[in-house]
Amino acid sequence: MKKSRTGGQTGARAFFSQWGMFFRQFVRHPGMIGSIIPSSSALVDRMLETVDWRGTRLFVEYGPGVGTFTRTILDRLPADATLLAIDLNLDFVAYLEAQIDDPRLRVVHGSAADVRRFIREAGHYQADYVLSGIPFSTLPGGVGAAICAETRAALRPGGAFLIYQYSRFVRRLLAPVFDDVTDEREWRNIPPCHLIRATRTQDLAQAA
Ligand SMILES: C[S@@+](CC[C@H](N)C(=O)[O-])C[C@H]1O[C@@H](n2cnc3c(N)ncnc32)[C@H](O)[C@@H]1O
Repeated sequence: MKKSRTGGQTGARAFFSQWGMFFRQFVRHPGMIGSIIPSSSALVDRMLETVDWRGTRLFVEYGPGVGTFTRTILDRLPADATLLAIDLNLDFVAYLEAQIDDPRLRVVHGSAADVRRFIREAGHYQADYVLSGIPFSTLPGGVGAAICAETRAALRPGGAFLIYQYSRFVRRLLAPVFDDVTDEREWRNIPPCHLIRATRTQDLAQAA
């Protein structure tokens, strides 16, 4: 199968291929995947609407799965920017590498807890945005807290951690490390989703 720059298969074939792949992975690893179907396009648009694309050099995505967000991010990302996608599931990593051929995309296999190492290996220092679809409420003990702390350290001052989740559980992990956290709802998704935005506030000395 020929892969396109950011699309891979198109139309109904792509839709069923992605949903089939996603469902099979959910059956194998329910706790890691956390959802039976990919996110809706309404959720993707809503999550990404606050992103300042022109000022983005490094965008990090945790848990890209079959690329539901990845393709839209690449559609909007500047030509000289990088999208670093990190997934713990090797089948999803192989699927994305086969489906999307874009020099701005770097897909890595591993845990989001190692985000700073992956950023360094990609030749960057800090991220402008980190987007996460990881199911925080079903992660093994301590992993969620470690991911939140590492993410704060990985963001540039003023950068944002954008999280879509079915529950508000992650807020208790964000509270000790981020001082600015907002929470909205998107109903046009199955099931409806929390849209959480945690910002790494600017240090006063840097903002002046
Ligand atoms: C709910 S799916 C989201 C898939 C896709 N982004 C979407 O919106 O349809 C969760 C994803 O998080 C990944 N994941 C779970 N734990 C992870 C971790 N510690 N680090 C990186 N990815 C992880 C899973 O493999 C899966 O791809």
